[in-house]
Parts: sequence; C-alpha cells; structure tokens
Amino acid sequence: MKAPFTAAKITEEIYWVGAIDWSLRDFHGYATERGTTYNAYLVLADKPTLVDTVKAPFRDEMFARIESVIDPEKIRYIVSNHSEMDHTGCLPDAVRWIKPEKVYASTNGAKALQAHFHEAMDLTAAANGEEISLGNKTLRFIETKMLHWPDSMFAYLVEDQVLFSQDGFGMHLATTERFDDEIDPGILRYEAAKYYANILLPFAPMVSLALDKAATLPLKMIAPDHGPVWRKDIDLIVDLYAHWAAQKPVRKAVIVYDTMWGSTAAMAKAIEDGLVAEGVSVKSMRLKENPRSNVATEMLGAGALIVGSPTLNNQMFPTVADVLTYLKGLKPKNLVGAAFGSYGWSDTAVKQVGRALEELQVNVVAGPLSVQYVPSHDDLLKCHELGRKIAGTLPERT
Ligand code: FEO
Repeated sequence: MKAPFTAAKITEEIYWVGAIDWSLRDFHGYATERGTTYNAYLVLADKPTLVDTVKAPFRDEMFARIESVIDPEKIRYIVSNHSEMDHTGCLPDAVRWIKPEKVYASTNGAKALQAHFHEAMDLTAAANGEEISLGNKTLRFIETKMLHWPDSMFAYLVEDQVLFSQDGFGMHLATTERFDDEIDPGILRYEAAKYYANILLPFAPMVSLALDKAATLPLKMIAPDHGPVWRKDIDLIVDLYAHWAAQKPVRKAVIVYDTMWGSTAAMAKAIEDGLVAEGVSVKSMRLKENPRSNVATEMLGAGALIVGSPTLNNQMFPTVADVLTYLKGLKPKNLVGAAFGSYGWSDTAVKQVGRALEELQVNVVAGPLSVQYVPSHDDLLKCHELGRKIAGTLPERT
C-alpha cells in the first residue's frame, strides 16, 4: 500500500520532495538530537529537473511526493550535487524509475557515484560554470570541491536566483517547517553552528572560496540538502559562515574532561573559577554527559581548549581519547590551551593529553598540571592560577 506523501511548495515552480527523519540520533558520530531532513527539490521548468535525492530508506516517501505534483516520466534531468549516500542512497532506483535523459554530477561526482554503486549509470559530468537549459530556466553548476567531499557542487537556478547548496548552509533539524523564518531563531543558529562545526570546520578555505562564488550571485533563496530553506536570513547565514571560517578566537574557554572519582572534576571546577575571575566565558563539559559533537560546537569561536583526564590503566581516559581524535580531524585553529588531570601512581594521561594538544596545534600556554589521587587546597589554588594564566593569553572582550 502506497503512503500518500505530499510535496511542499517552495516557489510556484520549485517543490520540496524530500523526507523528514525524526529518529536519527547519530550521523556517523555526530549526535543529531533533533533528527534531520534529506532535501530533494523538483524544479517544474519546461524540462522538469530533480535536484538530489534522499537516503535509501526514504525512497518511497520521495517517490510519492514527486508523484503528488508530476508524472515522474516527465522529469528530464536529475542533478546529483553530492554523492554521499544520505543524498544518493536511492539515486540508482530513482534513475530506473524516472528514466531521465541525463543525470548530472560534477566530474569527481560521476567517479564517486560509480565507486559507490558499481552499476552502469549514464552520468554526465558537469564542468564548473557550465549552464544547461531547462527550457524556460537555466541551471548553472558551480564546483565546490571539498565542501565537504571532492565531488561537491552547487547548482544555481539563474532566473529564480535559487542556490541548491547540498550540505552547505544546512543543518540537522527534523521539522515540518520548510523555511528559516518559520523556525525559532535560537534553534536555527545553534543547529547551523553545530553543522558547520562538525561537518565543514576542516574545510574553512573552501568555505571562503564558496562564499566568494556565492557573493557574485543574486540570491532569493538558498536551498540546502538538510534543514530549512533560507529565504529571510540569507545575509545572516552567509555572514555567519564568513565569521566561522575566519575562526577568530574570543574570550571563551571550553574545559573538556572526564573523571573517575571526582578529582579531575574538582580540578576542572577550580580552573573554571580562575578563568571566570578574569572575565572569561566558560563552557565546562564532562564527557560522560556531553557528546563529542556538542564539544565541537562549543569550540566554534572559543579561544581556549583545556583538557583534563584521569589516568586509567596507564592511559588517558577512553572518552578523552575519543574527543581528542575527533577534534584532530576537525582541525580547529587559533587556540591556546592546557592539559590537566589526576592520577594514582603514574601521570601518563596528562602527558598524553599534552602531546595530543600539540598535535592539534593548540598553543599550550600553561601546565601540564597533574595531581596525585585527590587535590589538596594548594593543588586547587594551582588550578585556579592555571585558569587565570590562560585567561591572560585570551583576547579582551570586544
Ligand atoms: Fe548530507 Fe555530506 O551529506
């Protein structure tokens, strides 16, 4: 039995035919507490065109939404802006179902799709800047290599001034609202920041390049592959991306730690107190309660990363190793920091954390500070002083 899914009107001639994934809670290591959407767009030009598809389990939902506005066999082109499987999982089935004249992807995208699906798909490689006619509309392809995969590209609908931006400007947010101005601005900003911090942060130079390209385009809408379409706050999200790409440090510190018997936690508290006494905004995150992706989100715009670990079996605590590995991949920039922690008979963990911070290219400006068993009053005073010392290296509030 077919479920009756309905397409959502974005403009008179563009429909959202994607899917809402309310249940997603983990996107390869990124905690998606609010779920996500997989956005696909149907452009009802003279030559109807489908831009991107959805994750495989949502295939029938997308097919039903398409059928709610058009006979699928009338669709002439499919465009695949990004080959990651949340957007292409049902592409081979969509090609068999629609039988389009052409399936466009970037040059790298065409190769990536073959390497994913290992089946004959007649793909047309789109050159950077190439335009195709949809009859009464024009679609321009804009290469955005490594934003965030080698295959990534944007597609710009020239006459409508709509930018289909795949993962760029997206967010993981399951919602029935399709536009930015229909969503709480605080949630919108947090989820956009979280997405940037966890998906796009390592590619800041490519973000800047993409923003330069976008700056040349008149924009009425930015339609990403996750979350709402930007129609009201286009300037805001573009400015935020420029701000995040610059990674200018602010007077904010993130303390990340785990603890066994509360000693490393007590040290974290005293370090926090020293920072706050010097006017630093602090986010203290015990890893037992805070997913790695939330730590990455708080790091966006922070000036200091202070990491604490107890020593367990002569190693740093596993949750601390996890977050440091994750942050290493995200390559945050322009940070100062320090390592701290408690130990029983070997202070290996603090040394390991210190080395990990250096690998992260954090400028280690204090410590390392390790305490045997339980911190004394004097030990906590040293932690407080460490916080003050780090504060002295952070920029003043503007
Ligand atoms: Fe939403 Fe990179 O896939």
